[in-house]
Amino acid sequence: MIIYYSSPSNHVRNIVKDMDGEKRELLIKEKVSKYFFINALKWGKASKQEKEVTFINDEIDLKNLKELTIIGPVWAGKPCNPIQTFIKQNKDELNKIKDLKIILNCEGADGKSNDFISQYLVNYKYSVITNKK
Ligand SMILES: Cc1cc2nc3c(=O)[nH]c(=O)nc-3n(C[C@H](O)[C@H](O)[C@H](O)COP(=O)(O)O)c2cc1C
Repeated sequence: MIIYYSSPSNHVRNIVKDMDGEKRELLIKEKVSKYFFINALKWGKASKQEKEVTFINDEIDLKNLKELTIIGPVWAGKPCNPIQTFIKQNKDELNKIKDLKIILNCEGADGKSNDFISQYLVNYKYSVITNKK
């Protein structure tokens, strides 16, 4: 299964398009703009402060999953708030999954993203896809 978050700039959505498997999108109540500058102000701060978001997608059943890939963007050197929140809220179930991959997408600097994740998860493969070389 693939669980992903993508903002209106759609980078992650385009990456996920080419991946095989059952896909579930994380949707949030809070507004994310299509303009980078607005997001940089609002969500850059929110990400640094690790503000939780409210999901509006159907609940995703993680029980008995053998493999899962979670993918989303980096915001201000951490996983974006939807990915932060999802990991925090589901850490117990996520830690039971044998083959857990976390993939983050960014322009080139994932910052302290893996430090954030390792506070909650123990056994996972971490990788980064950058938009530019
Ligand atoms: C609020 C905000 C903060 C960001 N912070 C970083 C960052 O710290 N490092 C980086 O390389 N890219 C950063 N980016 C760029 C995104 O990670 C990148 O464009 C990503 O591909 C966006 O995926 P999406 O279009 O699916 O939302 C940031 C973007 C936003 C909106």
